Amino acid sequence: MAEGHHHHPAAEAFDAIGADYETAFAGSAAHHASLGRLLERLAPHSAVLDVGSGTGRPTAQALAAAGHRVLGVDVSPVMVELASERVPGASFRCADIRELPLAEESFDAVCVYFSLLQMSRDEQRSLVCRLAGALKPGGHLVLATVPLDVEGVSAVFMGQEVRVTSFGPDAFRALVTGAGLSVVRAQETVFTPSHPGAVPEPHLFLDCRR
Ligand SMILES: C[S@@+](CC[C@H](N)C(=O)[O-])C[C@H]1O[C@@H](n2cnc3c(N)ncnc32)[C@H](O)[C@@H]1O
Repeated sequence: MAEGHHHHPAAEAFDAIGADYETAFAGSAAHHASLGRLLERLAPHSAVLDVGSGTGRPTAQALAAAGHRVLGVDVSPVMVELASERVPGASFRCADIRELPLAEESFDAVCVYFSLLQMSRDEQRSLVCRLAGALKPGGHLVLATVPLDVEGVSAVFMGQEVRVTSFGPDAFRALVTGAGLSVVRAQETVFTPSHPGAVPEPHLFLDCRR
């Protein structure tokens, strides 16, 4: 059962989207490249937290297949069920990451691929600070977002009405460095999901280090 999520808007939207998300974003070369760079940097059997783990593919699957110990957290019960089926070698927990206590210096890496967009700016800032604290010194934080200067904007995403909040590229970088992390690499790209009616989206990937 879900811990502490009470009809969270992100849970409702992603429960409805389910496995279609994986299909729509499977072609993201930048996501695969970001994961490839993380895999090159990780020591064997690293502890990795995947925030907003979705269907478990490609992130948790690639990390678990490489022998890392992966904990995926997602607020959508449907996503957690899909991920548990697809990636039996990882652990998944249904929870709102904003409410989940995280032990200090407990992970070698944290992945945050497109899971901040339904949080307020203050929540995104404080979560990234908390995730930085949950990393061991020298640990890796990999972040991806849609770098738009928008706050609470209504949008239709894969047929679901959502409210989106984000930052432009410079402000997002400032959020990350403000959390005490160094940006090792940044990649900006444009991706069009493979879904009827989808439009090109800007994507920003940051490889960061504590
Ligand atoms: C856009 S999807 C990305 C999924 C996956 N990270 C990927 O890139 O393939 C965002 C995911 O984050 C989850 N999410 C959104 N807000 C969350 C929160 N507060 N706590 C935990 N998960 C959340 C959603 O349920 C959804 O599965």
